[in-house]
Amino acid sequence: MALLEVRNLTVTLKTRRGKARAVRDLNFKIDRGATIGIVGESGCGKSMAGLAMMGLLPDGAIATGEVLLDGVNLLNEPESSLRHIRGKRMAMVFQEPMTSLNPVHTVGRQVSEALRIHKKIGARAAVSEATAMLRRVELRDPQRQINSYPHQLSGGERQRVMIAIALACGPDILIADEPTTALDVTIQRQILDLIAGLVEEFDMGLLLISHDLAIIAQRVQRLLVMYGGACVEEGETRAVFAGVAHPYTLGLMAAMPRFDGTLDRLPTILGTVPAIEDLPPGCPFAGRCELTIGACHEITPDWSEIGPDHTARCLRLDAVREREAAS
Ligand SMILES: Nc1ncnc2c1ncn2[C@@H]1O[C@H](COP(=O)(O)OP(=O)(O)OP(=O)(O)O)[C@@H](O)[C@H]1O
Ligand SMILES: [Mg+2]
Repeated sequence: MALLEVRNLTVTLKTRRGKARAVRDLNFKIDRGATIGIVGESGCGKSMAGLAMMGLLPDGAIATGEVLLDGVNLLNEPESSLRHIRGKRMAMVFQEPMTSLNPVHTVGRQVSEALRIHKKIGARAAVSEATAMLRRVELRDPQRQINSYPHQLSGGERQRVMIAIALACGPDILIADEPTTALDVTIQRQILDLIAGLVEEFDMGLLLISHDLAIIAQRVQRLLVMYGGACVEEGETRAVFAGVAHPYTLGLMAAMPRFDGTLDRLPTILGTVPAIEDLPPGCPFAGRCELTIGACHEITPDWSEIGPDHTARCLRLDAVREREAAS
């Protein structure tokens, strides 16, 4: 049995125009030491999936399916037991560090509170553990910074504090939602290296969420490509990159910067992601795909096996192969 298994996870939101599914039938597993990535454009449902796993969906959003932690479906657990599981078993580094840190408390207090709640240790012990944790996440001058307020820290430092809070209680699973979006490239690499080091040191499972295929490609063993709330391609990272099958993933790849100077402007995927309440039946990408045929608008494709540990959902896989072979 996997440590964490997500089965048919679906998140339904109430919108002004009725109910809409932000996440549709997501399936994956995470074990200790495993790293898995979710990639896709803004609005495709990545954060909703992470929040649903943590039991932290916004009001009005409903999760169905299963989020099995050691075989127990967290979607059926009462809030009291979820509160216990969050932090201790599963922790999340949120997309917006500034909104998830409390502006009126020092960072030391926020890290030590996380420790006190879960470890039931006294205030003094918590402060010294918090300092050690802030040192472990390589926050500069932790003895002094422990008394800083979030607004006094740089974006990278705030992200380190968020990671310290997430790790304070030694979770088995870490969900990192766009942990580096607002940071410059050098700091981005440092934070991703830090997370990778901690995942290894504490033998955690990692779910890394990013809109950036380059980040996902370099940092995870397996990846899921999401579009319009649904997974369209998944597999072992190297297998997927050796033979990308879905037109949407190919579009994401073409939009990745290269360093050979051959491209002046990056190609973009035509059109925009439809709002979730406007998603047509059939393949969610049909409206933007160059290879769409009539059936794409009507039939939701089944999973096709592309290779060992690599699957995709597309009716036009042959056309993709022909086009790739010709180019
Ligand atoms: N609080 C909310 N209430 C209602 N709908 C929401 C809420 N937050 C997000 N949504 C909608 O849910 C869908 C999925 O959003 P989600 O935040 O999961 O996307 P995402 O993939 O994380 O995007 P990003 O890369 O911008 O973070 C979007 O269509 C979004 O408009
Ligand atoms: Mg998000």
